[in-house]
Amino acid sequence: MKNGMILLIAVCLGLILFGGGCGKTESPEGEPGGRTIGMSQCNLGEPWRVQMNADVRRAAEAHPNLRVIFKDAQNDTLKQQAQMEEFISAGVDLIIISPKEAAPLTPVVAQAYAKGIPVLVLDRRVLGDQYTCFIGADNKKIGKAAGQWIVDTLGGQGKVVELKGLMTSTPGQDRHTGFREGIEGSDLEIIFEADMKWLEPNARKEMESALARFPQIDLVYAHNDPGAHGAYLAAKAAGREQDILFVGIDGLPQEGQAYVSQGVLAASFEYPTGGKEAIETALKILAGQPVEKEITLTSRVFTQDTIDQGGQRLTE
Ligand code: FRU
Repeated sequence: MKNGMILLIAVCLGLILFGGGCGKTESPEGEPGGRTIGMSQCNLGEPWRVQMNADVRRAAEAHPNLRVIFKDAQNDTLKQQAQMEEFISAGVDLIIISPKEAAPLTPVVAQAYAKGIPVLVLDRRVLGDQYTCFIGADNKKIGKAAGQWIVDTLGGQGKVVELKGLMTSTPGQDRHTGFREGIEGSDLEIIFEADMKWLEPNARKEMESALARFPQIDLVYAHNDPGAHGAYLAAKAAGREQDILFVGIDGLPQEGQAYVSQGVLAASFEYPTGGKEAIETALKILAGQPVEKEITLTSRVFTQDTIDQGGQRLTE
């Protein structure tokens, strides 16, 4: 027993000294071995972000020598800045960040990048170009497609409420400008708009105000599905949900797609999380291969007519 222990310790020591490490899985051919990725998630309050982390985790699990340290900034920009600083001082091999807001997180991303730590920015952008790669879908295009779909569905006219995502984050800005482009030239009237900051309870409150002020509302365009659902709940409580169409963005199978199937939402536009693509890109960077500065993910739209066939891909 004692001899066995000594032998085990000796083998472990040998492995450590000659580079293998004790209890570590051997690096598969061509893959980077023993690399650490820091992942700073802006919050885990919405199903979409839980899904993003799950997608990152699942993709990373296929590579035993990749370790991902997940941090949740709990929707607090200062906390997210601090997490980035921790990753920098810990000397992780690569950082993935899905930033809460663009401007205040730009300097700390640039700081990591300047120190030679590759930074992948996921879904929400930072300002400038001091990062390695941005991965996300085209929010302007999604907003424009939503606008055009709404114009078609309402026959070119109607009273619309716009519930915006956090306007200091780039998807909120782009889903707004894209939408306004999409409805240009129509007789659609935006009777009420508010920043619900991506949050369902805020959307519900804002919609209560809109309902109290306007006896006729034809459609709610919300920048995400939690927002559209919050608006639906407010309308339902006022007994007006049958008179209004609700449109959202994200299109998760367990959220937006389910709402469309249940008839709660008229449409949901997919916003892919990019979790899998982030790990694929991280592996390339860690292996010293070049990557594009910008990776644009494609999107689909799910409506009552297309949900059974898995939605429809957005075209130009
Ligand atoms: C989750 C979320 C999603 C939205 C994305 C935009 O926090 O609000 O619903 O699509 O962020 O960055």
